[in-house]
Amino acid sequence: MSGRRLPLLLVVLTALMTLTTVKAEYNVVDYGARPDGAADSAGAFQAAWGAACNDTGSSGSRPVLRVPAGRFLLSRVYFKGPCRSAGVVVAIDRNGTVFAPPTVDSRAWIMFHHADGLALRGGTLDGQGQEYWACKKSGRCTGQGPTTLDISQSKGVSVKQLTLLDSKNVHMAIFDSTGVTVQGVRMVAPANSPNTDGIHAQLSRHVTILNTTFSTGDDCVSLGPGTSDVLIRDIKCGPGHGISIGSMGGQPGEEGVRNVTVERAVLTGTTNGLRIKTWGMPNPGSVTGVSFSQVTMHGVANPILVDQNYCPRSRKVDCPGKSSGVQISDVSYEDIEGTSRTPVAVKFDCSDTNPCSGIRLKNIRLTYRHRRPAQARCRNAAGSVSGEVTPPSCF
Ligand SMILES: *[C@@H]1O[C@H](CO)[C@@H](O)[C@H](O)[C@H]1NC(C)=O
Ligand SMILES: *[C@@H]1O[C@H](CO)[C@@H](O)[C@H](O)[C@H]1NC(C)=O
Ligand SMILES: *[C@@H]1O[C@H](CO)[C@@H](O)[C@H](O)[C@H]1NC(C)=O
Repeated sequence: MSGRRLPLLLVVLTALMTLTTVKAEYNVVDYGARPDGAADSAGAFQAAWGAACNDTGSSGSRPVLRVPAGRFLLSRVYFKGPCRSAGVVVAIDRNGTVFAPPTVDSRAWIMFHHADGLALRGGTLDGQGQEYWACKKSGRCTGQGPTTLDISQSKGVSVKQLTLLDSKNVHMAIFDSTGVTVQGVRMVAPANSPNTDGIHAQLSRHVTILNTTFSTGDDCVSLGPGTSDVLIRDIKCGPGHGISIGSMGGQPGEEGVRNVTVERAVLTGTTNGLRIKTWGMPNPGSVTGVSFSQVTMHGVANPILVDQNYCPRSRKVDCPGKSSGVQISDVSYEDIEGTSRTPVAVKFDCSDTNPCSGIRLKNIRLTYRHRRPAQARCRNAAGSVSGEVTPPSCF
């Protein structure tokens, strides 16, 4: 064969192969889902997942579970792996909404378990929390209510371009998982909706949250025990309770939180800014290797806060007067500026028995409202200061 014909043949072969590749698509409508917002499509979604998860990926592309435009009512679904393919793509059309019934019957609404390689693209997940929040506030509902999106025991998960609305409880929970990336996501619920945190991660490693907007009724992001190697970048938070590490030390034998970076964040009108909180209880634990940088605060009530005496009376636990067993060390705050809604903009309230160590402040400019000087308060905290730091440090 001449050297000239070979490239042509390759082009033709490639084109043929592309044409004959079967796209492994599992459209929920083909499994009986109804985009009419009336019939419960949970059975159809479950069946489509079963088929996609069973696909070996022999067609050369990853199986796609497709949710087209429309409104799909979905009661609880449990998407369970391990799957035979390298990872299912769940693609919800930009004009596709999946919404929950107002009633509550489980701990989580949409659950992915052992879903290695999952890629979720959206679309909107609407938790329809309104009735349940009212019930919680009236004291008639005492449970936590379901998390909207629950990812557990999974590796290499990505969640992109999704909108999560009005969750009954936490919007997204990441539990016992490794390598979870959330990017270009929005989580929205009213400021007064109870317990509607944005993302809560626990016992998980390599969690990355990029370009994501949170306006909810509780923490924008909270990192619980056993979470490490976390990167949070380019996020907007508010209203809400801010970015939180903790609560730590609520249980004996907890794993610590380690290696957390938060950079380029804007917090607006939140009750806390960058918070580390531990129960005022002697359970041992640790928080170490945390870096907060390039953070702008607009009217945040407690912009920089370490609270080792967390003990809300409503929880009826035995802690007042006890000292936290959690050791907080190596925490840096750099290029943090903006306004505090309260006079104390910086507060390190650390443990008597485990003082905070290695706190670093660099280039901090926080004022009380617009121009009034703010204050810093310390208890059992030691660290270093560089650059311009206002309010002046209390180490
Ligand atoms: C998965 O594949 C197995 C074996 O091929 C089959 O028996 C099973 O019914 C399939 N499950 C689903 C949900 O398609
Ligand atoms: C951030 O996310 C939004 C919403 O999904 C998207 O439109 C935008 O392009 C993203 N920006 C970057 C820099 O990734
Ligand atoms: C800290 O976490 C980041 C983000 O996951 C990771 O890239 C980095 O390697 C980790 N550093 C150490 C020392 O483990």
